[in-house]
Amino acid sequence: MIKVNATDHLADANRTAPPERDRQTALQLFNAISTRRSFGLKDLSPEPIDRALVEQMLEAANWAPSHGQTEPWRFVVYSGEARRILGEAFATAFRLLNSDIPSTEAGERNQRERVWQAPVWIALGMHPDPKMPEWEELIAFGCAVHNMQLMASALGLASKWTSGAPAIHPHVAEVVGFAPPTQLYGFLYVGRPAVPWPQGKRRPLAEKVRWVE
Ligand SMILES: Cc1cc2nc3c(=O)[nH]c(=O)nc-3n(C[C@H](O)[C@H](O)[C@H](O)COP(=O)(O)O)c2cc1C
Repeated sequence: MIKVNATDHLADANRTAPPERDRQTALQLFNAISTRRSFGLKDLSPEPIDRALVEQMLEAANWAPSHGQTEPWRFVVYSGEARRILGEAFATAFRLLNSDIPSTEAGERNQRERVWQAPVWIALGMHPDPKMPEWEELIAFGCAVHNMQLMASALGLASKWTSGAPAIHPHVAEVVGFAPPTQLYGFLYVGRPAVPWPQGKRRPLAEKVRWVE
């Protein structure tokens, strides 16, 4: 019989000592998860935020799991004057979506102006690897966006995933630089909160879980 020493695996370059875990870490994690909130665009301050904070959010996203290490998340970050490009793209998408109504001017203006309310807009793209079922790629991508939102929240930032029709329009995808098979699933806007932190609400877990023992 081969005797395995408990620390033998540490000789493997791909492995390391287990991270320190204690109850406090678990409580902090739960607190970060349960207090992560989505903020309405009008509840953000338009003041710029440090690029380092956004980089931390993107790093967190990059640690999402993916089957087969496909890492299908793709992001394009808009800030400063570059948001004008985005506003124009949203406005054009709005016009294309409403070609049956006489005037889209007011709606287009709204799309153009809304980009200035949040200092950072992150285009959320999913680049599926054909070797995996697409649903698995989509879920991995969703985990990445959630990681990003958790980090934003933990940093005291306000964010929301916005996936309305203009935000996922093929014209906007083209402007952002996502060509098929990469798909645009909306944007995460980010900024400092201009209002008190919102309260969360969930229906009871018991409605969604069945234990079989
Ligand atoms: C995939 C996805 C798309 C979303 N799209 C929108 C959206 O287009 N507009 C919106 O107001 N909220 C959107 N949300 C945010 C949800 O409304 C929000 O997560 C929900 O109300 C729960 O609030 P919480 O995030 O504060 O827990 C989206 C969330 C997800 C996960």
